[in-house]
Amino acid sequence: MRLGVLASGSGSNLQAILDACASGRIPASQVALVISNLAGAKALERAHRSGVPALLLPHKEHPSRDAYDAAIVASLEKHGVELVCLAGFMRLIGPVLLGAYRERILNIHPALLPAFPGLHAVKQALAAGARVSGCTVHVVDEGTDTGPIVIQAAVPVLDSDTEETLAARILRQEHRCYPRAIQLFAEQRISIEGRRVRVKSAWPDETKTGASPPIED
Ligand code: GRF
Repeated sequence: MRLGVLASGSGSNLQAILDACASGRIPASQVALVISNLAGAKALERAHRSGVPALLLPHKEHPSRDAYDAAIVASLEKHGVELVCLAGFMRLIGPVLLGAYRERILNIHPALLPAFPGLHAVKQALAAGARVSGCTVHVVDEGTDTGPIVIQAAVPVLDSDTEETLAARILRQEHRCYPRAIQLFAEQRISIEGRRVRVKSAWPDETKTGASPPIED
């Protein structure tokens, strides 16, 4: 399966995906293209280092969201991308991209959705006094962080936590969850029924807990 990863930042999730493809944990899959909207995004550097085509596509150079999305779609299609992974991509996805890759766009969010969608999810969880937070990989739909949930992992929120320490604990789980969610797609084990994602057969050792890794830390 050919993956397209869209990232604006440090690209640690991209790295987890690259590593999982290289080690065979995501079977028969490769990152075919990395796109960033920001010059200097470390994600582009990571792509270069792995020998993956990396494209800087600044959103500011396009007159509208539709025009920008169309440019993204053209590049993804040119590279034969079948599944799009948003990994810290700080742009909202519009109908042009959604229409071209319906139910084939994933996003990772640093909270247990539907709690704390949108920006500053870690800060939101701390401010709300949540005792547990985590990460969610979900299929992207028209809303902000509202699409069907594929995998979640939970982490505790400690009294001593700052935004940085909690974000770091969550990020470690993101790096486990994203490759695993992509693996499910690659193995065609995902079916989307309304708002629910069904995993056709769970891992033999995880039949009791389903697709989500257990709470850790
Ligand atoms: C992650 O926390 C992810 O959940 C959010 O953006 C961050 C990206 O981190 N959507 P990285 O660029 O993958 O290191």
